[in-house]
Amino acid sequence: MRKYEIALLPGDGIGPEITAVTRNLLDQISKNHGFQLVFQELPIGGAGLESHDCPLPDSTLKACKESSAVLMAAIGSPQYDKLPREKRPETGLLQLRAGLELFANIRPVKVWPALKEASSLKEEVIEGVDLIVVRELTGGIYFGKPKGRLKSKDGERAFNTMTYSCSEIDRIAKVACDLAKTRKKKICSVDKANVLDVSQLWRDRVEKISKNNPNLEISHLYVDNAAMQLIKDPCQFDVILTSNLFGDILSDEAAMLTGSIGMLPSASVGTNGPGLFEPVHGSAPDIARLNKANPLAMVLSASMMLKIGLKEFEAAEKLEAAVNTVLNKGFRTGDLMSEGCTELGCSEMGQQLMEAI
Ligand code: IPM
Ligand code: MG
Repeated sequence: MRKYEIALLPGDGIGPEITAVTRNLLDQISKNHGFQLVFQELPIGGAGLESHDCPLPDSTLKACKESSAVLMAAIGSPQYDKLPREKRPETGLLQLRAGLELFANIRPVKVWPALKEASSLKEEVIEGVDLIVVRELTGGIYFGKPKGRLKSKDGERAFNTMTYSCSEIDRIAKVACDLAKTRKKKICSVDKANVLDVSQLWRDRVEKISKNNPNLEISHLYVDNAAMQLIKDPCQFDVILTSNLFGDILSDEAAMLTGSIGMLPSASVGTNGPGLFEPVHGSAPDIARLNKANPLAMVLSASMMLKIGLKEFEAAEKLEAAVNTVLNKGFRTGDLMSEGCTELGCSEMGQQLMEAI
């Protein structure tokens, strides 16, 4: 039997609740499709701090490296916000991305027909949205050096460095090109080349790649304009290629086209080795342990894991179809509620999904 080792990272806040739902579904779906998933639950973020005094324990990183794929829920909690940077839950996630060399973050954004009313934008604007944000994940201002805080005679100063090398730009651009070839063959590269040198290099490289790919339509937007275009006319986009920080911001904005950030999955991949699959949303500490969380983004991340990480295409489609079924039946978690629908808790949503697979 095909067998895969899954490193499962429930993390913090709503993480454990949405993980429980997703794990049950994966157990069932693997049985249905004749393969076996062996889960190893590991601490990260606040959970890592509690158990190992470290947001990414060495044992977690080691087990992730040895796995077939890593499935994470969410990290972070306000109780850790005052800790020094190396102790913050977010640092653990960044170290995991860097440790697994996951330079490409793929965030598909599509509007589910049943959720058209859940978006704060007009239905005619979001109808047919189907785009992918390709975000560079292990470079840019998130990792650039020098960085830090300095005491000077005018008071304290703090600084970060936004930096990209040609090879970092080229390899993420290639991911976007390969994806675009399987889709509408359109890439919009987003930068701030009118102001930033690092963005001018980004644009120069993408233009060069564009010349070598005459069958792709590659355009460029400044990030401020891109943010505006995303809510003005989101259907103009197919693949959005962008840097770490801009991708972080634009993907949250794009999430709102789908009605809730609770619907957005993501996949992070490198050249080889296991990928990391995680919802775009955070740990929502305000609703943790209240059975109010929306598990769908994690379920859809699990579907991406089956498809991209394990090449279990049929099972991946089944899981995605189950999400569609429950939404079409009018079941919603609180974040997606609209008139005439039935509000469910996180675990009840899990039960409905189980029935649908
Ligand atoms: C995301 C998150 C992370 C990021 C945080 C939690 C470090 O916002 O995955 O988009 O900024 O990359
Ligand atoms: Mg983010």
